[in-house]
This record gives sequence, C-alpha cells and structure tokens, in this order.
Amino acid sequence: MSEKPNVIIGISGGIAAYKICILVSSLKKQGYNVHVLMTKEAEQFVTPLVLQTLSGNKVITDIFDISYTPEVHHISLAELADVFVIAPATANIIAKVANGIADDMLTSTFLACTCDKLIVPAMNTHMLENPVTQDNIQKCRDYGMHILESGEGYLACGTTGKGRMPEPAEIEDAIKEVLQKEKYLAGKKVLITAGPTCEAIDPVRFITNHSSGKMGYALATAARNAGADVILVSGKTSLSPVRGVHMIPVVSAREMAEAVLPLQQEMDIMILSAAVADYTPVTIAEEKIHKTEGGMQLELERTTDILKTLGQNKRSGQILVGFSMETENLVENSLRKLDSKNCDYIIANSLRQQGAGFGGDTNIVTIISKREMEELGLLSKYDTACRILKTVSRREKSCTC
Ligand SMILES: Cc1cc2nc3c(=O)[nH]c(=O)nc-3n(C[C@H](O)[C@H](O)[C@H](O)COP(=O)(O)O)c2cc1C
Repeated sequence: MSEKPNVIIGISGGIAAYKICILVSSLKKQGYNVHVLMTKEAEQFVTPLVLQTLSGNKVITDIFDISYTPEVHHISLAELADVFVIAPATANIIAKVANGIADDMLTSTFLACTCDKLIVPAMNTHMLENPVTQDNIQKCRDYGMHILESGEGYLACGTTGKGRMPEPAEIEDAIKEVLQKEKYLAGKKVLITAGPTCEAIDPVRFITNHSSGKMGYALATAARNAGADVILVSGKTSLSPVRGVHMIPVVSAREMAEAVLPLQQEMDIMILSAAVADYTPVTIAEEKIHKTEGGMQLELERTTDILKTLGQNKRSGQILVGFSMETENLVENSLRKLDSKNCDYIIANSLRQQGAGFGGDTNIVTIISKREMEELGLLSKYDTACRILKTVSRREKSCTC
C-alpha cells in the first residue's frame, strides 16, 4: 500500500481551471496519487492531456468510455479516494452535488465517494451571491462537505469582487488539513517561531541570515492541521500567512523576545525554529552611514537568548523544542545545546547535506532528546514538521497523564 493519500481532483468548467495544473503538479511532486476527473465543459478550458501528463494517471471525462479498465470505473475510483476535491467548482457543479445529481463521471464518482470532500467555489460575484448558489453551498456544508471560501479580487469576467478561486497553494493547504483526520494536538496551545531576524545598522542596512521561514511555517501548518491552537511569531519572510494561525510579525531579535517571552506560561508546546541573531549593533545610526577611506568597525552586543530564557522558566509538563543548524559536529553540538538550554528536543540539521537547511522545500533532520535520537531522511518540510509534532506530542501526553 502506498504511503501517500489518493487525491481525486474534479475539474468543472470555470475559467480558473488552468490553475489546477499547478496544484496537480505540486501534489504529484510530493508523492500524492492524483486522479483527475473533468466535466465536458472543463475540457474547454484545459486539456485532459496536460492533466494526464502532470498526474501520471488517465484523465477521465466520459463515463461511457468502454476503453477504461476496471480500476478507473467510477465506483473503483470512489473506493480508492482519501479526499475528493472539486476545483474550480462552478455554480452548476455545486448545484448538482448539493442535490445528488450524477449525470457524468465526475458527479457519479463524487456521489459514490464516502471520503472527505472539499469544494472550491469559483465564479462571478453575482453568481456566487445568488441565493440559490448560497443555498446550495450551505446544503453542501450541511452534508459534511468542506468549503474553501472564495477570495476577493479581479475576476476574469472583468469585475472585482468575491468569487475568485483561492491560489493552488491555498487549495493544497486545505487538502492537507482535510487529510489530517487525527487531531492529536486538539486543545493544545502551540507557539512556533520562524524566519530570520533583521538587526538594523542604520536606516537602510541590517544584519540578517538566510532563513526563509519555510520550516517554521510548515510546523505552524502541521500543528493547525493536528488541531492545535497555534501562534506563529515570524520574522520577515516572503511567505503567505498560514490560514487559521494567529500570526505575530516581528523584525528584530529584541522584538521576537518581547513577543515570545510573555506568552510562555500559557503554552503547552513551544518550537523555536526562527534563526535569531546572536548579536545586534550597540547603536543604530540615525542617518545612513557613508563610506570613508579604510575599513570600519561595528560594535555588537549579545541579544537575549530566547531559547535559554524559556528553558530557565519552563513549567512542568511544558515541552520546549529548539533547532540547531550546524556546519560541523552536528550531534555533539546539539546535545550540548539540549542540556545548556534545558530543552526537551533539539531538531538538528546540517548545512552540509544536500536537501537540508535554508530556503528549499525539503529538509533532513535528526530529532534529539535525552532518551532518543531519530534520524528522519530527506522529506518535505511539511512531512518533517508532521514527524516532529508526532514525536513531541507523544512526550507531551506522557508528561500530562
Ligand atoms: C469563458 C467562460 C468562463 C466561465 N467561467 C465560469 C466560472 O468561473 N464559474 C462558473 O460557475 N461558471 C463559469 N462558466 C459557466 C460554466 O462553464 C457553465 O455553467 C457550464 O455549464 C459548467 O459546466 P460544469 O459545471 O459541468 O463544468 C464560464 C463559461 C464560460 C464560457
């Protein structure tokens, strides 16, 4: 049995259909088994050939095509599915699935599916706001389907308003949330830090590092999907905020400390993945520093060690997780950090390994505690985050019960 879930994507005849190619490609790259079903109208907007190539599976459009093997029969597909997503979902397809109409391959398979269902409406604002469409969407909700709200913005029909299909990354995020059925962090308060800090030198320059924030955002997403109440304290990144997560944006190490430390006592789990500056300029020049002949000296002072401060004030039952990025002696340095900062876990990664570290979508980490050392192989940052949270939650449960 394959490890990754089976995702059925039903595409109906909306202008946003072309964007689904990006979603299919992204899911496929992460190892999901993706099956695409299209309505006849959807074929006007994007060809089955594109989606077949991207998904690696036959794209099904015609329920009466006798060339299909039994595995692509609508009932077999329905049994295989872990989640069925309709994106974009036209007003027409929403009306059909809300009322049990099964007049093509997409709607027949949908009706036969017992898995979780996610509908992503996308249409002109007046179509969306029409009480009939609203009733149909509500009906879908009442039948237990998940609805991903449309966004607002410029619509292909030339107007601006609600009805825009969320971007593929947002749909992917919603799919992962729906797939995470086991809410093993339900009721838990989790604080995560992410990204770099920027230490100002003058009004135009600062000291920073290469952290992209991707690992921390993946942790926040995975913790939310596991049912936690999540606060994400984030340095400057180019990433979109995580839906359903309370975000506190900060810039400097000082701001990060001021945001994190007062929250400590109410948290069950704290995971510090931000790359916080150890040193900051003693003074920030009020005006831009102009160059002169010869070198220049910059006087730096230590910033607050947030992890250490949290470790010193850790209450019983609270779990503290630090990250350690090393260029040498990964395990020795991480074990030292575990001890000196009073952490429960150190997530260690090496800058020297390909596929690990800053910027990319993958990581290779070792989860280190006093009792165990677990090496995770090359995984996406989201899968790495899920594995870290599972390990941490096992300890959390054993602490509190
Ligand atoms: C250029 C064009 C763009 C369309 N875009 C949308 C859309 O974004 N949302 C929608 O609900 N219908 C849209 N429609 C109308 C649907 O294609 C039409 O209702 C069709 O019957 C839907 O069929 P299906 O739901 O079986 O795919 C569009 C039609 C055209 C011609």
